[in-house]
Amino acid sequence: MGNVIAFWSPCHGQTGSSSNMVATAAVMAMDYVSHTLAAHTHYGISMVENAFLRSWRGGSGSASYSAQGIDSLETLARSKQLSSSMIKDYAVPVFSGSLDVLAGTQKPEEDLFLKMHEVTDSICQSARSAYDLTMIDVTSGTRNVLTNAVLESADMVVVSLNQNMALLREFFDHPPAVLEGKTFIIVLGQYDAGSRLTLTNIRRLFKTRIPMFAVPHNSGYMDACNEQKVVEFFLKRKHIQAAQPDYAFMQEIRRLTRGIYQSLAIDPNMYEKEA
Ligand SMILES: Nc1ncnc2c1ncn2[C@@H]1O[C@H](COP(=O)(O)OP(=O)(O)O)[C@@H](O)[C@H]1O
Ligand SMILES: [Mg+2]
Repeated sequence: MGNVIAFWSPCHGQTGSSSNMVATAAVMAMDYVSHTLAAHTHYGISMVENAFLRSWRGGSGSASYSAQGIDSLETLARSKQLSSSMIKDYAVPVFSGSLDVLAGTQKPEEDLFLKMHEVTDSICQSARSAYDLTMIDVTSGTRNVLTNAVLESADMVVVSLNQNMALLREFFDHPPAVLEGKTFIIVLGQYDAGSRLTLTNIRRLFKTRIPMFAVPHNSGYMDACNEQKVVEFFLKRKHIQAAQPDYAFMQEIRRLTRGIYQSLAIDPNMYEKEA
C-alpha cells in the first residue's frame, strides 16, 4: 500500500511550496524505483502542471472537463467506480514508469471543484493502491475545505516555510491545528545558505526536533520550471560532482527525498535505483 503526501504551506506565495514538490517528485522519479503520482488542488494556474505538462491541455475548454484529470477521478469516486488501475488512465506519464502527473480541474466554477472534498478520502485510498507515492500540492492556509480534506487524508505533510523570521516564529509559537497528530516535516523553500538563519540556527533557535530540510534558491531550476524542462534539468545533474555549481542544490533535494521515506518509516535504500 502506497502513501499520500500533502505539500502545504501556512502562508501563500513565498515559501515555494509547489516548486518544492515539483523538485521532490522529479528527483524521487530519477533516483528511486517507486512510482509517483504528482497532483494538485489549485483552481486556475498551477506550478505543478506548468512545470511538467507541456501544453498538454491543448486549449480544450471547460465543456469537456469531466473527461480528464482530477475531475474524472471525482466523477468515478462519486459513483463508487474508481479502481486503482483507472487512476493511471487519467494521469499523464512524464518520466517513464516513475512519475505521472494528474491534471487539475477544468470546472467552470471554483465552488463546484471544492465539492471534491466529499470524496477526497476515497480518491486518496485508490491512489494508495495505484502508486507508491502520491504527492498532492494543496493551496496554502487552512481556509479551503479541499486543502483541509487532503491534509486530513494524507499519511504525511511536507510543510513549506522559509527564512522569514516572523513566519517561523508564528509557526513554532502557534503550531497550526491541522498538523496536530500528523506526521510532518519542514522544508525551507527558496533557501539562501548565506543567511544567518541557517537550518542549524533555526533548529537551535526554536528548539525543534521536527526533521527540517531546504530547497535552495536556484535560478536554473526556476527557468526549468518555466520552460517545462524539469525532468531534463534533473537528469543533467544526476551524476553531479562536488565541484559543480548545483551540487549543494542537488544534495539538499536528495536529503529531502530520503527524509520523506524515513518519515514514512520506509528504508530509502530499499527503493534506490542502481547508479
Ligand atoms: N528553489 C527555488 N529556486 C528558484 N525559484 C523558486 C524556488 N522556489 C520557488 N521559486 C519561484 O518562486 C515563485 C513562487 O513559487 P511557488 O512554488 O509557486 O510558490 P508557492 O507554491 O509557495 O506559492 C515561482 O516563480 C517559482 O519559480
Ligand atoms: Mg503553490
